[in-house]
Amino acid sequence: MSAGIELWPPAASHHAQQVDLLIGSFGAMVWLLTIPVFVLMSWFAIRYRRSREVNRDHAPTRNLWVEVGWSVIPFILVLGFYVWATMLFLDLYRPPPDAIPIHVVAKQWMWKFQHPDGAREINNLHVPAGRPVKLIMTSEDVIHSFYVPALRQKQDLVPGRYTSLWFNADKPGRYPLRCAEFCGADHSAMGGTLIVMPPQDYAVWLGRNRDGGMDGTLAQAGARLFRDLGCSGCHSAAASVKAPPLEGIFGRPVALADGGTLIADDQYLSDSILLPNKQVAAGYRPIMPTYGNVLAPEQVNALVAYLKSSRAREDSK
Ligand code: CUA
Repeated sequence: MSAGIELWPPAASHHAQQVDLLIGSFGAMVWLLTIPVFVLMSWFAIRYRRSREVNRDHAPTRNLWVEVGWSVIPFILVLGFYVWATMLFLDLYRPPPDAIPIHVVAKQWMWKFQHPDGAREINNLHVPAGRPVKLIMTSEDVIHSFYVPALRQKQDLVPGRYTSLWFNADKPGRYPLRCAEFCGADHSAMGGTLIVMPPQDYAVWLGRNRDGGMDGTLAQAGARLFRDLGCSGCHSAAASVKAPPLEGIFGRPVALADGGTLIADDQYLSDSILLPNKQVAAGYRPIMPTYGNVLAPEQVNALVAYLKSSRAREDSK
């Protein structure tokens, strides 16, 4: 890593390069439109200063096309930048389906990362180079913001809600990771490192750290919780208590008691655990207790991961 002040952070992804190109071009356009104005202003101020003998007749000379031109051309240029920037922005909302899902939980004042196979880490995030990664993020306390300057990307983490961010870092290296939302006394210390590794090194790293994390994958941990917390007593297909069966529900439409329908996604499953009365399934009474003060966000993530994987299993039957 270079010493001293970096005026421009390195670009670790294709998206970062695209953003730099956009910013650079926009900067160039602003100079292009501004410099002539200031040059002419200075020139007129000097040429027509009071003490100077010049022709001040002010003969009327109009050129309609010049006047239309200096309005329409900058307008089209700026509109072009709007379209360009919007397309870059929309890319950020279309994660590729094969992106590696990594769970992120922020809390005062640290970052907790959970890889799909169970490896866990704090403040460091290891990812393979050239592979899309999707972060599924939430906060344990207040709003934080995940910010990696080298990716030119930033996303808030909000308690009780999932937000996500995806990237494809193709340049191996170590890049600073910051919290970009004031979150209390140690906000400025809430940082870490994004470590982009060649895929084979990442595989080795995962293998070494799998045992240091929890037992088994996130989904396996969720399956254990589903049993240990007693969820399965009501929510498995064979349960005697009348509660909506959850295994296999992920990605399917759910009819709600208020007449609406939604698709069971991460947010719905998480809400149903933490805020069970928010959306009650049609045909069931709102008797599910909240687990808001009982479960840590990691445990909710594990349960959701298990319910997702049970969908995959149902499908393969
Ligand atoms: Cu977390 Cu600032």
